Amino acid sequence: MSALLEVKDLSVSFETRGGVVRAVDGLSFSLGAGESLGIVGESGSGKTVSSLSILRLFGLFDDVSVSGKILFEGRDLLRVSEAELSRIRGGKIGMVFQDPLTSLNPVMPVGEQVAESIRFHTGASRPQAHRRAVEMLDRVGIPDANKRCEELPHSFSGGMRQRVMVAIALACEPKLLIADEPTTALDVTVQAQVLLLLDELRREMGIALIMITHDFGVVAATADRVLVMYAAQPMEHCSIHHLFQRANHPYTEGLLRLVPRFEHQVHGRLHPIEGQPPALTEEIVGCPFAPRCSFTLDRCKQERPPLFRIGPDHESACWLAAERAERETLPDKPWKAV
Ligand SMILES: Nc1ncnc2c1ncn2[C@@H]1O[C@H](COP(=O)(O)OP(=O)(O)O)[C@@H](O)[C@H]1O
Ligand SMILES: [Mg+2]
Repeated sequence: MSALLEVKDLSVSFETRGGVVRAVDGLSFSLGAGESLGIVGESGSGKTVSSLSILRLFGLFDDVSVSGKILFEGRDLLRVSEAELSRIRGGKIGMVFQDPLTSLNPVMPVGEQVAESIRFHTGASRPQAHRRAVEMLDRVGIPDANKRCEELPHSFSGGMRQRVMVAIALACEPKLLIADEPTTALDVTVQAQVLLLLDELRREMGIALIMITHDFGVVAATADRVLVMYAAQPMEHCSIHHLFQRANHPYTEGLLRLVPRFEHQVHGRLHPIEGQPPALTEEIVGCPFAPRCSFTLDRCKQERPPLFRIGPDHESACWLAAERAERETLPDKPWKAV
């Protein structure tokens, strides 16, 4: 069976006044129907640019070069026409972004915004689209959806606005949902509610998910597999189970040590990764993590490690991947979803 989405050797760079920024450098992954993939990494690691590339949602004034392939249902989204892509956006591929206020139209009632997308993508009549919009708003947990659909976005709380975004994204029953830090702006209890809702609905509707986040709690709550990015490059790709049980890459391990856990707080132990990520305007020779890694060999500074396959569902871009995979399995840890 062919994959729903196949990203092959995607690279994206921007020409800026400060030089060429390599925002994504050699990213590959695939996603089957109904599957979910978490993309994790520090701020600036290329997560958002990767997801925007899938729908070619670059700024009007961006001087951008993209190479590679993005096959969606077998067709390369980097090569389809703009008209066709606008039918796919919001139709077969839904999106939810971090800040619902900038994505919602401030002067249009929320019900109409949901209905508009339904009309555009399905050709439903006005009353049909309205009914479906109210139904979706109700499904995402907007109380009194029938009345509240007449209200403007500003009269909703942050969590409720994000629920409206979920309603818009799922209203046309997409095959794929891309969520970029969808709950980062929300407080933790609301965050958990929205994640749960998103997960429930997408499973019910059989929708594949790309969940972009810097938060392992969010990944644990929503993803089957995870891709860890650093300095525009993929570092590790594995199942959630492997991530928490036997992360291979020193960078992934470093990130996991940063997850605040109860015992850390009691003993005051959090282990930041020393140093800073490299500037993406500079040419990166060797492994981008080498300057911050405790296991660096000469080779790491000279040659970029490929993603080594170390198990049926596990890849790691580290020259020591095979050796590290032989280590004793880490004891079961009480990682918890948010
Ligand atoms: N339109 C743009 N023009 C120039 N550089 C950009 C643009 N968008 C993103 N970048 C740069 O690309 C890199 C990756 O950004 P991004 O994908 O937003 O990171 P993340 O989502 O992981 O925080 C950053 O260095 C960022 O400054
Ligand atoms: Mg981002």
